[in-house]
Amino acid sequence: MKPMIYITQRLPEEAIASLRESYEIRMWEDEMEAAPREEIMKHIGEAAALWTMLSVKVDREMFEAAPNLKIVSNLAVGFNNIDLDAAREHGVMVTNTPEVLTETTADLSFALLLATARRLVEAERTVHSGEWKSWTPLGLTGQDVYGATLGIIGMGRIGEAVCRRAVGFSMDVLYHNRTRRNLEGATYAELDELLEKSDFVLMLAPLTDETRGMIGERELGLMKETACLINVGRGGTVDEDALYRALKEGGIWAAGMDVFETEPLPLDNPLLTLPNFTALPHIGSAGEKTRHKMMAMNAEAIDEGLKGNQVKNRVC
Ligand code: DGY
Repeated sequence: MKPMIYITQRLPEEAIASLRESYEIRMWEDEMEAAPREEIMKHIGEAAALWTMLSVKVDREMFEAAPNLKIVSNLAVGFNNIDLDAAREHGVMVTNTPEVLTETTADLSFALLLATARRLVEAERTVHSGEWKSWTPLGLTGQDVYGATLGIIGMGRIGEAVCRRAVGFSMDVLYHNRTRRNLEGATYAELDELLEKSDFVLMLAPLTDETRGMIGERELGLMKETACLINVGRGGTVDEDALYRALKEGGIWAAGMDVFETEPLPLDNPLLTLPNFTALPHIGSAGEKTRHKMMAMNAEAIDEGLKGNQVKNRVC
């Protein structure tokens, strides 16, 4: 019997073709949504590998129900959806997809920063709705990006790639990170100093016990009234209720977010009523070539892991 790989969302055939000969593939055939938990639980007992999406919670209960599981491979660089302690206790390795998505996610971070600063989404809507009547001296004016100060919270590979883009915009870059880095073109700052000085605060931090809710009412209160908050790291690092109040009451000028506490962002979330809030549906790494490279990394890790070979990109 071939070992079974369970895939939690439909992937293109080219991504899985190399695995078909040696493994049984069971895949949830919906491309738009991941398999419901009950469906994954039906198969996990037999699975040797779980190829999963970041929207799927792989928790202790799932590991307990998976006596044959050897590897979980996550189609993302972030892995906060997976209980690593439980994985270790059950002797299951976990892999992610770093590096190949760095530049693409930095592109999106910068695109969202520019879109938020220059009100691109709002402006585009005025064209469609017929509100665009004439050129106006102060209509749809935004915040200047060139020469502004950018504060990056969570300075890893993606942060460095954003820094390289910021150079072209003559930005001063501050960063705050758990560990200080020796970086050219970016200066370390304590969190409060970064919040006070930055015109744009870009959150790239992963979601951990330490970062959960790290930008709340107090932190938003330190930011400039003209500042924009951008989050391309993980939802849950920004307190969304506090953000709503800050945006509504003019505590900060605007926010652009690609990641949320609950994804998809519920349509009744009050943030969606605000004109100074730009939301994207978690598309940080969504470059076509990038996504194919990420899938290839997952397939390779699963194959090597199930063959008992050394596996790259292990997070545990
Ligand atoms: C990741 O890979 O963790 C990103 O959030 C995907 O956009």
